[in-house]
Amino acid sequence: MDLKKLFGYEGKNVVITGSASGMSKSATELLLELGANVYAIDINKIDLPVTKSFQADLSKKEEIDKIIKELPDKIDALFLCHGIAFFPGKELLVQKVNFYSQKYMTEQLLNRISDKGSITYISSVGGFGWEQVYNKAVELINLPSWEEAMKWYEEHPELIQSAYVFAKQCLESYVTYKCMSKEFIDRKIRINAINPGDTTTGLTEDFNRSTSPNGDLKEGEEMISNIFLKSWNGYAAEAKDMGYPMVVVGSDICSYMSGQLIYIDYGLTSTWKSGALLAQSSKTIEELSEEANN
Ligand SMILES: NC(=O)c1ccc[n+]([C@@H]2O[C@H](COP(=O)([O-])OP(=O)(O)OC[C@H]3O[C@@H](n4cnc5c(N)ncnc54)[C@H](O)[C@@H]3O)[C@@H](O)[C@H]2O)c1
Repeated sequence: MDLKKLFGYEGKNVVITGSASGMSKSATELLLELGANVYAIDINKIDLPVTKSFQADLSKKEEIDKIIKELPDKIDALFLCHGIAFFPGKELLVQKVNFYSQKYMTEQLLNRISDKGSITYISSVGGFGWEQVYNKAVELINLPSWEEAMKWYEEHPELIQSAYVFAKQCLESYVTYKCMSKEFIDRKIRINAINPGDTTTGLTEDFNRSTSPNGDLKEGEEMISNIFLKSWNGYAAEAKDMGYPMVVVGSDICSYMSGQLIYIDYGLTSTWKSGALLAQSSKTIEELSEEANN
């Protein structure tokens, strides 16, 4: 079996953002190995032998519009991976980087995505519980322009207060809402997101610092470890633990997969869900397993 053929990237045009570092850099390395023509975009310099790289601030509509003109007419797979951590005062910036620019790029590039092509995002376990803001997220998603969206954000300070979480929840809502909408399903364009758990990347220091109320690196590291690792005596993932599966999701291997939010967290969010369900039903695991066995 020819593995490159199985993935289906050989000679195909792939656009990927955030490739200067972390998960997206790992993904880009694999895409190159699999023979894709990679067009990579980042605010920082990309030091990989891609077909073409672009340096742009994707929080800015003008910069996105400029790059879009330079991207190929036909795109087989699009990966939107750029992201930042949240610091107070950056609520709107986080919405623009971590969600709105990704929605905007998707919609601006949609007519260039080939039939049966794929769009894959990097969301986060941080978006867990996205169902609770779904109606609001859909309201935002349905606004027709960047300018109207910015106005909506201004009018909803309470939602963007939990900046990182809300942006990722919007991304997950977007995948869920759009996967079978006409513009995607008529041309069988697949749309999915991976939801990584704690991963050591270029963002780790910012995540640690921003999690501590005092901006203390050590304290933040401990807090993150308590939330994401302690309960399973776990360890942080490496960038490739996310980047490689994402490449699989966007490939022909997953040709029947769309609308999925794929948690890559060793099962952590499943245990959160299990806990919530058990609390709701107020039944113990033993009672539930007894019921299942009868
Ligand atoms: N690291 C984690 O623990 C973790 C967990 C869950 C989700 N994520 C998400 O994974 C994605 C990838 O991040 P990472 O962890 O690999 O971090 P990273 O910092 O290594 O990579 C993010 C990339 O995005 C680029 N970027 C940031 N702002 C940009 C902008 N305005 N315009 C263009 N490029 C910009 C950065 O320069 C960087 O190269 C992000 O969306 C992040 O939210 C990370």
